[in-house]
Amino acid sequence: MTSLFQDDLNTAMESMAKGGAFLTVSDGERTNTMTIGWGYVGHQWQMPVFVALVRKSRYTYEILEKGTEFTVSIPVLGTMKKALGICGTTSGRDGNKFEKAELTLSPGKTVGVPVIAGCGNYMECRIVYRQDMVPSQLDPALREVHYEKKNNDYHTLYFGEILQSY
Ligand SMILES: Cc1cc2nc3c(=O)[nH]c(=O)nc-3n(C[C@H](O)[C@H](O)[C@H](O)COP(=O)(O)O)c2cc1C
Repeated sequence: MTSLFQDDLNTAMESMAKGGAFLTVSDGERTNTMTIGWGYVGHQWQMPVFVALVRKSRYTYEILEKGTEFTVSIPVLGTMKKALGICGTTSGRDGNKFEKAELTLSPGKTVGVPVIAGCGNYMECRIVYRQDMVPSQLDPALREVHYEKKNNDYHTLYFGEILQSY
């Protein structure tokens, strides 16, 4: 893989935070993608890691609970807006989002989960740790705004070893 600390990592993270990225998951039977805006890259356990935050209400969560890998496809900021909108507002439970959003899949280089063609940045990850948020540990103001006002729909954090980034 190319270095984690490449110059365009900042650009990619900014694109994800401002415009969104595709988090694609598969459990061998079901494959789905959803738009994410939260997530981060870091270094721990002597490996590069991407952390995705997925609320329990998502179909993606259901699949991740059975799967072992995920991919992150980050479009260049300002591109693929329509597809990011569709994948961020509709659920894979209600139909095939790849078709709805007219997305083309490319096979992962090292994982069984595909990436979304046409995005500038990709990460292929193997899940090495999962962590449910613990409400009592969260700052009360953040808890109120982000969870208590949203049906207590807490995130699970998925830590993926970045096996490939390109
Ligand atoms: C810009 C944007 C960013 C989003 N970021 C996240 C995120 O980081 N985590 C999350 O759980 N949901 C996030 N969502 C919401 C999911 O994409 C949305 O609920 C989606 O319909 C879930 O699809 P699924 O049920 O097929 O998994 C975001 C939505 C948008 C539009």
